[in-house]
Amino acid sequence: MLETNIKEILVTEEEIAKTVERLGGEITAHYQGIERELVVIGLLRGSFIFMADLVREIKLPLVVDFMTVSSYGDGTVSSGDVKIVMDLDMSIEGRDVLLVEDIVDTGNTFSKVIRMMNNRKPRSLAICSFLNKPECRTAEVTIDFCGMDIPNKFVVGYGLDCAQVYRNLPYVGVLGE
Ligand code: PRP
Ligand code: MN
Ligand code: MG
Repeated sequence: MLETNIKEILVTEEEIAKTVERLGGEITAHYQGIERELVVIGLLRGSFIFMADLVREIKLPLVVDFMTVSSYGDGTVSSGDVKIVMDLDMSIEGRDVLLVEDIVDTGNTFSKVIRMMNNRKPRSLAICSFLNKPECRTAEVTIDFCGMDIPNKFVVGYGLDCAQVYRNLPYVGVLGE
């Protein structure tokens, strides 16, 4: 039988809801009065659940798009190589863009994606990540809207996977042995 092997819950459903609400408020305040819809871009696959919750807490006209990048593949260690598996559908030139991630770990994914997005000349580019692992940083990344810092543990749930499994857990947990 398949079993869910979680040894510790790091972020509960209640903490997730509160954090997303706070982030939505910060983002709403920051972009008050923008002239065109905010472009909210989710990096698949990890951000899909956070993205769905976050956009409902942003009280502004916005559009969403997605991009699939992968650096970890099915492993637990970053390969260092960020591949665009599926690009955006829309042009972001001249637009206010918010990039959304589930977690910043080494910073490798975001630092490369930010460089690629800046080449497309957005009007502004900001980043939002639900989780941040500051201890693991090897590439410089400034997170404009950060949910919470967590210790260096391999976490799953709320979009985060281990070999593609566990993304559907409604909380963030640490995987057992
Ligand atoms: C994970 C996570 C972030 C990235 C963070 O994605 O969702 O995108 O790694 O790690 P980094 O800061 O060290 O680059 P992954 O490559 O596992 O793909 P996934 O989103 O499909 O799970
Ligand atoms: Mn990801
Ligand atoms: Mg992953």
